[in-house]
Amino acid sequence: MGIPQIAPSILASDFLHLGDAVRVVEGAGATRLHIDVMDGRFVPNISVGQPVVRSVRQGTGLFLETHLMIVEPERYVADFVEAGADLVTVHQEVSPHLYRTLELVHSLGKRAGVAINPATPWTAVEEVLGLADLILVMTVSPGFGGQQFIRAMLPKIKRVRDAIDERGLDTELEVDGGIDEETIPLVVAAGARVLVAGTAVYRSRSGIGEALEGLRKLAAAASRS
Ligand code: DX5
Ligand code: ZN
Repeated sequence: MGIPQIAPSILASDFLHLGDAVRVVEGAGATRLHIDVMDGRFVPNISVGQPVVRSVRQGTGLFLETHLMIVEPERYVADFVEAGADLVTVHQEVSPHLYRTLELVHSLGKRAGVAINPATPWTAVEEVLGLADLILVMTVSPGFGGQQFIRAMLPKIKRVRDAIDERGLDTELEVDGGIDEETIPLVVAAGARVLVAGTAVYRSRSGIGEALEGLRKLAAAASRS
């Protein structure tokens, strides 16, 4: 399963100082960065697009994951890859030809992820488990940062973990939404190993670097117990 990784989500950062927001987590030992792309259609909010991914790419060597919360994501996969994404995650709910979309990401030489909303059963991704590099189980309804973690997602995370392990796959299992000091032990125990954190990193009173370090230690300890 490996050591848990925290993926800071820049959605909660101060966009006026985005470069600093990226540099500070890189300096604090982050291994990856999570960029939330919202279209105001699939989710009731609009965030950032390719130009921001491109700028972040120019400013960091971090592994960049783009979480596309947009309808018809297959239309934009190549654009996000071109902008510098290392991983492109699309939502199952808006990807009728998911197999083809994941193959498209792979054909461009990048890693492919699939996200599922809280109301989507894990079996919606069962047939692509062997093709996807990452499964993202949403632990809030996507669209906004700072929402409350949905505890009822814990059994679903466990089911995906079991399915990955039973098949002997090395698919990454990620969670996103309401991840903080309280929920990290729960999601790690359920089998998640990539933990997206926006508010808990960028809005922490202890400061960004220290917050990230604290979450990472907590996750590592939870994975050992
Ligand atoms: C929610 C986004 C998340 C968001 C998480 O729709 O996908 O990545 O940034 O924010 P927090 O950690 O504040 O719940
Ligand atoms: Zn996200």
